[in-house]
Amino acid sequence: MSVGNLQDKLGRPVRDLRISVTDRCNFRCVYCMPRQQFGPRHAFLPRRDLLSYEEIARVARAFVELGVTKLRITGGEPLIRHELEHLVANLAALPGVDDLSLTTNASRLTRDKARILKSAGLTRVTISLDALDDRTFMAINDVDFPVSKVLAGLENAEAAGLAPIKVNMVIKRGVNEHSIIPMARFFHGTGHIVRFIEYMDVGHSNGWRLDDVLPATDVVAQINSELPIEPADPNYRGEVAKRWRYQDGGGEIGIISSVTQPFCHECARARLSAKGTLYTCLFATDGHDLRRQIRDARLSDTELRHHVASIWQRRADRYSQIRTEHTVSLPKIEMSYIGG
Ligand code: GTP
Ligand code: 5AD
Ligand code: SF4
Ligand code: SF4
Repeated sequence: MSVGNLQDKLGRPVRDLRISVTDRCNFRCVYCMPRQQFGPRHAFLPRRDLLSYEEIARVARAFVELGVTKLRITGGEPLIRHELEHLVANLAALPGVDDLSLTTNASRLTRDKARILKSAGLTRVTISLDALDDRTFMAINDVDFPVSKVLAGLENAEAAGLAPIKVNMVIKRGVNEHSIIPMARFFHGTGHIVRFIEYMDVGHSNGWRLDDVLPATDVVAQINSELPIEPADPNYRGEVAKRWRYQDGGGEIGIISSVTQPFCHECARARLSAKGTLYTCLFATDGHDLRRQIRDARLSDTELRHHVASIWQRRADRYSQIRTEHTVSLPKIEMSYIGG
């Protein structure tokens, strides 16, 4: 299988690999790892089950050879994993990778860590922040983590040159919709890009209801009434966020509307869980165990590449386009496990 012509059943190439390095997180965001399900008795993956950095890099290499150019490291909270810079360096060394980013809650993004990650080859970071007031943010992260510490992490990333920085805000109706305008105003003119994300029915523990989703059109209308915006062209085909720019030159925002305006037809994303299971959709109920293939079956690099290619060729996922009451209640993989 040569680079460039690998396609799934719906004609989609593979361009973006999202790598979860741990299922653990020091936050308990209500929409992702609610405390009731992720309490002291929750069984996180044992260390031996996690792919090593070398194993992750091997899998990533196979994907890059099949056409992937974008890599994203996620979790749980990826900076919980020790010396993540070693993985970053391994991934940055793969020829053909032109974007290597990290999604983090920024709680462990110290000045030193940001610098080390940058010099290991990380291109940029995306930071999760759902409100600017502590009351709302703490009600969401559920561990009393203050906004100021996230902003400190963001400044450290900026100082290290991990730019452009994106800020992910998941909007849950009635919980943080009042923070939309403050977030837009705060980041307007800073060069950082806030992405307003519709709350999704990932996993099955967050008690998702359609009523909790504030449609993207409402978000756009709210922002536009205070800070006029106009649509901008996508940076690349299949970009998740729809770009909007401020008419006054204050930069841009992104709108991620996977519930009300799904974008499966161009989805070129694959996901690797911390224990080495490959998922071809964020909402998958089953994955493909690559750890077994590399640890036990000892596939060679070429065999691994062929194996991955054959999984991709059989892919027909388009969950968000066929979401129904039935699919919402399927036993899907949790976001903290599969990575955002
Ligand atoms: P860039 O590389 O900066 O373009 O990032 P991205 O647009 O891929 O965004 P990011 O990885 O930060 O994802 C932002 C959010 O979009 C995620 O946390 C998810 O909520 C959502 N998202 C990302 N990829 C998918 C996808 O394939 N399907 C769905 N339904 N939602 C997604
Ligand atoms: N819906 C939308 N986005 C979510 N994230 C986590 N859970 C959900 C959900 N249910 C986002 C987080 C983070 C990224 C990894 O995924 O905000 O930025
Ligand atoms: Fe942790 Fe991110 Fe999930 Fe919040 S959204 S619990 S910070 S992995
Ligand atoms: Fe891709 Fe699945 Fe998300 Fe659709 S729902 S965009 S197929 S990950």
